[in-house]
Amino acid sequence: MAWIRLDKYLADMQVGTRSQVKEKIKKGRVVVDGVTITRPEEKIDGEQAIVSVDGIQVNYSEYEYYMLHKPAGVLTATMDKKQKTVIDLLDKTARKDLFPVGRLDKDTEGLLLITNDGALAHDLLAPKKHVDKQYYAKVKGMITQKHIEAFAKGVVIDGEYQTMPAVLEIVRAAADMSEILVTIREGKFHQIKKMFLATGSEVLYLKRLSMGTLRLDETLEAGAYRPLTEEELADLQRITKKAEGLEKNE
Ligand code: URA
Repeated sequence: MAWIRLDKYLADMQVGTRSQVKEKIKKGRVVVDGVTITRPEEKIDGEQAIVSVDGIQVNYSEYEYYMLHKPAGVLTATMDKKQKTVIDLLDKTARKDLFPVGRLDKDTEGLLLITNDGALAHDLLAPKKHVDKQYYAKVKGMITQKHIEAFAKGVVIDGEYQTMPAVLEIVRAAADMSEILVTIREGKFHQIKKMFLATGSEVLYLKRLSMGTLRLDETLEAGAYRPLTEEELADLQRITKKAEGLEKNE
């Protein structure tokens, strides 16, 4: 990102809607590098320019990254006419180009990355990139070594698709309900629920704990979110770059 229209710069940074910021610019309330600019379409250097509105400096950030603890009952979508979405959980002042990376079912809880960085999102989701996602689940019935072996081979779901190998760990096994950790590398629709159905069980509760190096911050209550730390972001960028090499070698 280098050159950007002044009205877009300010609207992206939530100074106001596009028409509100146009008005502010036309009224001479916006100063760029010490010069008052009155043309909304003026292009400025988004990385270098020092921009202020009514004397208050507005810095530009091209990309933003948040970790959301998705609660059950909320759709993983940017908008929906009837139901509440994960984007509705964000503050009203949040920028408007944010979207969730990947999909958790409505009844699934846990880690969801929210960003406006399409390239990183693509890299994290591409099956070839081998980004592990770990889930905790409560499932019906006794889970045994047989399940572990079936998951390790890959399970046939939808009657035809063999999943990639998955790592299943038993946290607590009991006749009525077991608790497990499962790590998958893909994100097929209802994948974990289907994998358990295919092996004679059923998911009763599902929570995503991690995606690649990013782990759900357990201090975040369901419904809460926070920006990624610099380290969390750098780690995600590093694993997607590493995965790029893997992909090329395949
Ligand atoms: N697998 C599922 O079945 N559901 C999810 O929400 C995520 C993975």
